[in-house]
Amino acid sequence: MIEAIEHLKREKNAVILAHNYQRAEVQDIAEFVGDSLELARRAMETNAEIVVFCGVDFMAETAAILNPDKKVLIPDSGAICPMAQQLPADELMVMKRKYPDAEVVLYVNTMAESKALADCICTSANAREVVNAMSTPAVIFGPDRNLAYYVQKATDKTVIPVPQHGLCPSHHQIVLSDVLKAKEVHPDARVVVHPECIPEVQDIADYIASTSGMVRICREESSDEFLIGTEIGLLHRLRKEAPDKKFFPISNTAVCPQMKMHTLENIALALEKEEPVVSVPPEIAARARRAIERMFTI
Ligand code: 13P
Ligand code: SF4
Repeated sequence: MIEAIEHLKREKNAVILAHNYQRAEVQDIAEFVGDSLELARRAMETNAEIVVFCGVDFMAETAAILNPDKKVLIPDSGAICPMAQQLPADELMVMKRKYPDAEVVLYVNTMAESKALADCICTSANAREVVNAMSTPAVIFGPDRNLAYYVQKATDKTVIPVPQHGLCPSHHQIVLSDVLKAKEVHPDARVVVHPECIPEVQDIADYIASTSGMVRICREESSDEFLIGTEIGLLHRLRKEAPDKKFFPISNTAVCPQMKMHTLENIALALEKEEPVVSVPPEIAARARRAIERMFTI
C-alpha cells in the first residue's frame, strides 16, 4: 500500500499533508506533518498539483481557499470537525448585529461560510497575537469557549464568545481529576496541554500551546517526562521527535474519530481516482480568504 501511494504521488505530482492527530502510518507517509497554521502555510507553498489533505474538513477547505488552482483531496469526506459545526453563519450574524462595534475573530475550526463573515481568522498557535492586533476593545470570538477563555486571560480585550458553549468533544474528555491522578503517578513530569482543554486543566498546566507548539516545548524543555493533554495522535510525533523522553497521555479516551478516518487504503484510492475534491463556492472563498490573509499579515 505504501509503495502504491509513493508511486501515485510521483506520477501525479501530489503531496500528502497530515495533521498531528493522524494515524501513525498516515503521518509516516506524509511530506509534512503539522498543526493547522503550519498546514495552511505548507498548502500555499507547495508546487505540487494535487494536495491530499489528511485532516478534517475545515483544514482541507482552508487549503482549497488558499489554492484555487490546485486540486485538494480529502481521503474520507466524512472527516467533519464537530466543533466547526457548532457555529452556523446565521448565529454569527445575530452576534455581529448585537455587537456592531466588535471585530470578529474566528478560530480556523469553523465552516467556510462563517469564515466569510469574520474580520480575521486565528489558530491555536496565534490566537493571542491575532486578538491583540484587533482595532476594537471588544472582540467576538468563536466557536471554542475554552480557547476563548485562554485568549481572555492572555489579552486586554473583552472577549465575547459565540456560541455560548462551543467545545471540542475530544478535548472535553480531559478533566482535572485525570491530571491530578497522572501527576500523582509521575510527580516530576511537566504538564503540556492544548488550549481546547477546559479552564481547570489549562490552569494547572505548565504549558499551553498548539499541537506543534507542544512538540517544540517537549523537545526543548530540560525535563524528561511529560503529561500530554490533547488528542492522543500527537504522541506518535512526540515519541518520534524526542525518542529519549517519556510521554504519557492525560486521558486515553481523548480521541478524535474524525481525524482517524483517513487510512492508507482511502489515501491510495483518493490519489488513484482524484476524489473526493474539496471545493468552496467562489464568493464564499473570496471573503473567507480575506480573513485568512489578514491572519497571515498579523
Ligand atoms: P492545532 O492547530 O493546534 O493543531 O489544533 C487543531 C485542532 O483541531 C485541535 O483539536
Ligand atoms: Fe475538531 Fe476536536 Fe477533532 Fe480538533 S480534535 S478536529 S477540534 S473535533
